[in-house]
Formats: sequence, structure tokens, C-alpha cells
Amino acid sequence: MRLPQPQFALQAALKPQDIEKFDALAVAVQKDEDGLHFDSTGFSHAVITRLNLDAQAIVKSWPDYAAKSGEILELPIDGLGKVSRLYLVGVGKSGREELRRAGAALGRKVKGNGFTILVTSFSDGASSALRESVIAFVAALSISHYGFEIKSAGAKQKRAGNTFTVSGAISNEVARAQVLSDAIWNARDLIHTPSNIKNPEWMAQQAKALVRAAHSSSLTVSVKSGRQLAQFGGLRAVGNSAPIPGPRMIEVRYAPTGSKNWAHVVLVGKGITFDTGGISLKRPYDSMVAMKSDMAGSAAILAATCAMTKIKPKVRVTALMMCAENMVSGTAQRPSDVITQYGGTTVEVINTDAEGRLVLADGLAYADLELSPDYLIDVATLTGAASMGLGKQYAAMYTRDSKLAQTLSDVGERTSERVWHMPLVDDYAPALESDVADLVHTADKVKFSAGSVTAALFLEQFVGERRWVHLDIAGPGRSDVDSGEYIKGGTAFGARLLIEWLASFA
Ligand code: BES
Ligand code: MN
Ligand code: ZN
Repeated sequence: MRLPQPQFALQAALKPQDIEKFDALAVAVQKDEDGLHFDSTGFSHAVITRLNLDAQAIVKSWPDYAAKSGEILELPIDGLGKVSRLYLVGVGKSGREELRRAGAALGRKVKGNGFTILVTSFSDGASSALRESVIAFVAALSISHYGFEIKSAGAKQKRAGNTFTVSGAISNEVARAQVLSDAIWNARDLIHTPSNIKNPEWMAQQAKALVRAAHSSSLTVSVKSGRQLAQFGGLRAVGNSAPIPGPRMIEVRYAPTGSKNWAHVVLVGKGITFDTGGISLKRPYDSMVAMKSDMAGSAAILAATCAMTKIKPKVRVTALMMCAENMVSGTAQRPSDVITQYGGTTVEVINTDAEGRLVLADGLAYADLELSPDYLIDVATLTGAASMGLGKQYAAMYTRDSKLAQTLSDVGERTSERVWHMPLVDDYAPALESDVADLVHTADKVKFSAGSVTAALFLEQFVGERRWVHLDIAGPGRSDVDSGEYIKGGTAFGARLLIEWLASFA
């Protein structure tokens, strides 16, 4: 279960006596050759004068404090009402990514202490140029609080939620940051839930709960299961390896009244609730532990679609969550099976651990044939190969639309969910040739390597003439470190990228 989520309050005007009501104060600082600087505009000025803060004295007492972004100096405060702490938060040169780091550092520092904290000078007098930085700061402040644990009552540590009061005319920025961080929290809850709890039907229940919680007639959900999936050969071949309740396709739609003629974006998410590899069992066995997050793509598109009700862009969005468990069992598919994907394409299954592309192919074909998308985007923890090339900081992005690639790259930079445009190498087309079926689903490793590229080429077979983007998030979808905005495990990568891109359909 998630740890307490921080709350945000806005204060339009700050009187000097208000300062005493908080448990702690946080003030941005910079340091250069001339010494330490506080941003002394607006509300921080009130705090600084009230505290009698003396930059030179601080430099003298803490000469090593460099106020690098995310570097925090915690000072005890006495005799100022309730206030017990001052956090000087280094912001470097106050760039967007520096503020993101600062927000995450402050969030980590105070996580669980139950404080009410007045945050000034990160935000005061925000010009439009600072807008992105404020959003990054506030979102990071929230996201860095994320935690998930399932502990018995006795073992549970008491952790209290924090409340941050931010001052200044930044209500829009704070609201946007909350939309982004709520989406991350929601998606991470799904990703961190263990797979003995999250089977495909559980995913459907969660999707319904999130849709209900949005309280919006623009957002609807429907679920296909059992015989309704008769034509979804990929989803069935993978999902029928697991016992009850079997695979699900969860369809979440954002379609406000009057949206008929707006652009239609269809998102397809890989939703493998656990990936054992199937009969081609994953090795080394340890590598399986991470596979509870193999539904991270589905979690990201669900969270992003639900967020639309708060942003209300002029775009129709349909999310297709392709949910199945890839199990080892008597009903599991075999290497050499031939399956029929949605739309009729036959596929020879070589390695049952390449299950993601099979469930995605059904989703992409269904979108192409039934939903008339203007944009078709899939998000998937698809190949280890993607992270071999790019590591964990960038998702591998495949598309033939270089303009859209540039747009998404830009949004990725802004949201810190960065994507790298990869080539769909046509020379590798023979990798998809099969003797028995229309396509083979895994390329001969020795001949082609490039496992992330050949997976993308396979998916492309199912998108028709659509404007299509494939995001392989196997790298950035999971974090190995507990630092900054991340804890070990699912990151919910893709949620912010999609929300901000969809928001641009104003
Ligand atoms: N879910 C995995 C990919 C993955 C690996 C995600 C590591 C996150 C971290 C996917 O289903 C898979 O097993 N892919 C295979 C494909 C291969 C059999 C062609 C892989 O990457 O090894
Ligand atoms: Mn697999
Ligand atoms: Zn997988």
C-alpha cells in the first residue's frame, strides 16, 4: 500500500505572523563567488527578514555548503512560534532540472515526518519562463514521497503525511504538478503491487476504480474477457498459460461531449501482470523478480488517460490495456506454435518470453481496424535489448514520423521522461520471415541482434497506415536505485510524457 501522499495548499498572500504557524520553512539558496544568495523577492523576503537570516554568517558556519541543486542545509529554529526547522535548499542556477532535483531532495528529506512546511522563493513572481521549473519542482516534491509497502500492523512504521504550503500566483502550475504527480502515484501503485494480487482481472478492477474516482462523464471503461477475446489470438496464447481469470483487454476512453471531430489518440499498453518467460523460462531466474512490473506500460497509459479529465485537452483518447500473465503451465503456448492475431495475421511463436509483442500486436491491429486513430502509440517494457543500448535514462522511441519524434523528444526533456529516436532498419525485414506463418515473432539473434529494433519492426506489421510511435520503456520503466524521484522498482515512466503531449491538443 502507498505511504501517505503529501498535500499542497496555496496561500495567495503571506503576513509575517503567518510564518509562525508552520512546522518548517523551506527557502531556496544559490551560491557563487560572491557568497550565498536567497531569492529575496515576494514571500521569501518576509521569511528571511523574519528569521533575520544572514548569508555571511551561514557561509562562515557551514563553509562546505555549496548550495548545489538538491543540497539541503537543515537548521534548527527556536523562538518562532511552531517553527522548528529551516531547510535551505540549494537550487544551483535555478534551471528546470535543478529545481526538479531540489524538489526531490526536499521531498526525501521530510518524507514521513508529518510537517506543515511553508515553501517560498521557489515560485514567487513566476514568469512564464519559470512555469516549467515550478511544475518540475512541485511534482518532484510529491513524487519523491512515493513509497509502497505491505507490512503487518505490528511491523508498520508510523509515517505521517506532509502538507506543503506554496505561496504566490502559481495556482495553475501547482495544479498541473499535482495532475502529473497523481498520475505517477496511481501508476506506481499498480506497478508495485505484487503479482499474486494483480492478475488481469484485478487490473480491470483498478481501471474501473480510477475511472469512477475521476467523477467525469467524459471517461468510460469497458473490459473484454473470455469469448469476447476470441479474435485476440496473441492475448489468448499468452494469457491462457495462467489459471483463472485469464486475459483481459481493458479499454478506457476519454471522449467529452462534442469531441467527435477532434483528433483521436489510441494508446496501447503492455500489461503482462507477471512474465515468467513461459515455457521459454526466463534465465537467470533472478531476473524474473523484476517482472511484476511488466505491466508498466498499461499503468502509464491508464494514469495518463484518467488525467485528461483534469486537463481537458481537445483530443479523444482511448487506452487499450493488453493484460495477461505469462505463465508456465499445461495450457501455456509452445515454441513453434502458430497463432492468429487480431485481423488475421498468423505468427510463428519462437520464444515464449517474447510475449509482449504478441499482446501488443492484437491491440495495435484492433486500434487500426476498429478505432480509426489519428495517432497510435504503444508503451511497453518490451526488450532487454533497448536498455542495453540506451541504459535507464531514455526510452527507445520508434516511429517513421520524424516531426512527431521531435515533438515527443521535446516533451520528454521537459517532463524528464526522455525518449531517443531509434531507427526502424528496413534491412532487417527478413528477420520477420517464417516458413510456416505470415511472420515469425522473434528474429534469429545471431543474424540480426538489434532485439529492440526487430521487435519494433514486428509491431509495425500491425499498425496499417497509421501514424504510429512505439516506446520501449524496458530501461526507464524500472529504477535500480532509491534516489531523487525514484524508489527501487516501477517509475511509471511515460505517464508525464503522455499527459504533457496530450495537453498540447489545446
Ligand atoms: N519483459 C521482458 C523485457 C524486459 C527485460 C523488461 C528486462 C524489463 C527488464 C520481455 O517480455 C522479454 O522477455 N523480452 C525478451 C525478448 C527476447 C526473448 C526476444 C528479452 O528482452 O530478452
Ligand atoms: Mn518476456
Ligand atoms: Zn515481458
